[in-house]
Amino acid sequence: MVSWLNVWIMVALLVPVLLSLTNPRGESQTQTQTQTHPKPHSQKQTQTQTLHLPPSLISSSSNLFFNERIRDGSNLDYDFYRDTCPQAEDTIRSAVTRIFFDHRDSAPAILRLFFHDCFIQGCDASVLLDDSNGNKNHSIEKQAIPNQTLRGFDKIDLIKEEVEQACPGVVSCADILAVAARDFVLLAGGPFYPVLTGRRDSNQSFYDEANDQIPRPDDNVNRTLRLFSLRGFNERETVSLLGGHNIGKIGCEFIQQRLYNFQGTGQPDPTIPVDFLGQMRLNCPENNNTSSTNEVSAFEVSQKENSHSEAGMSYMQALSSSMSSGGAFDTHYFQSLLKGRGLLYADQQLMSHVKTARLVSAYASDDGSTFRMDFARVMLKMSNLDVLTGLQGQVRLNCSQGVSS
Ligand code: HEM
Repeated sequence: MVSWLNVWIMVALLVPVLLSLTNPRGESQTQTQTQTHPKPHSQKQTQTQTLHLPPSLISSSSNLFFNERIRDGSNLDYDFYRDTCPQAEDTIRSAVTRIFFDHRDSAPAILRLFFHDCFIQGCDASVLLDDSNGNKNHSIEKQAIPNQTLRGFDKIDLIKEEVEQACPGVVSCADILAVAARDFVLLAGGPFYPVLTGRRDSNQSFYDEANDQIPRPDDNVNRTLRLFSLRGFNERETVSLLGGHNIGKIGCEFIQQRLYNFQGTGQPDPTIPVDFLGQMRLNCPENNNTSSTNEVSAFEVSQKENSHSEAGMSYMQALSSSMSSGGAFDTHYFQSLLKGRGLLYADQQLMSHVKTARLVSAYASDDGSTFRMDFARVMLKMSNLDVLTGLQGQVRLNCSQGVSS
């Protein structure tokens, strides 16, 4: 009875997501082609640009012994733990709800953590791993430069502990992170999207890939688009994913160079409107160390500053400079970009490419529903990225520690 109810709820929730396959305003490209991209650092894979209803919703998964990461999530399942841990998703949801109402800033923290996990070798919880061999070289993914300001690891540990109490050794950290990210997004005012389960945890950590492949705040639009396209995201999907910057905070170290020493010129980024520059400078006063550091990327600066949780560079400001009109996941991020008021250089760069600029305008020009539909769809797609399933990987007992075989 309960499981039929779940199926009906699932169908009801999927319909709007599937309806969102219609193009948003300003986007003319058809989305139905299938493309083959080289997968960075590993095998070649066929990936589809279309959101398909995963076959696993219709029949059970068939790729369990396939020794390859599957990009489109077709080997994941709806309610994978229905027999082994039927309360898994409810346990995650109630832990997330409690954490959210105690610490609202957990929602953006976990969304970013999830993005950084999925972007590097897929959604496999590799970013959560600590070094278990006492290695002092920090060659684990968590210590890679772009990951040094990630937050929320303790929240995932808390959720995992509760899930472990209910069903020891059953539910993977990768699934917990994927479901928790969805639940946090929803609580933060974002759209619902279905999350399939059955991911397994990686027993590897990808330090070099994280340093090389996570987009940087000072990247131009071409590099950003290229990095996303290597993972099968087209321009429209990339722009909607960046709408994740509707929520959360940014440390000043990521915009110092734009404000005071853009590309080593000793001057601010000339494209920043004067009034906005003044406002940002008030929020982020000049930091001598940073402004004199020519040609050092913002991520390297952040490493020197040892993250904004420490003394020094402590001011945080909202990632999107416009005020939200209520629900956080609306059009305010895109409206900021239209006015030239993006905080990160990489965000504002979306306006310097014809196609991405058109998408920004399209998302900014309605009540937010086009963006929300697209964001739901692309989050579902990202959640399925290059997952491990079946006999691949492992299920960790503690998200920061691999299980030795
Ligand atoms: C070009 C791509 C991207 C770049 C360069 C980028 C860069 C950044 C930077 C520098 C911060 C500030 C971190 C800090 O101060 O601690 C940040 C925060 C954040 N990013 Fe991104 N990001 C990108 C894409 C994304 C995507 C695709 C998502 C999610 C779908 C995302 C979600 C977030 C969130 C939610 C925060 C706020 C985190 C918090 O408040 O703790 N970002 N990002």
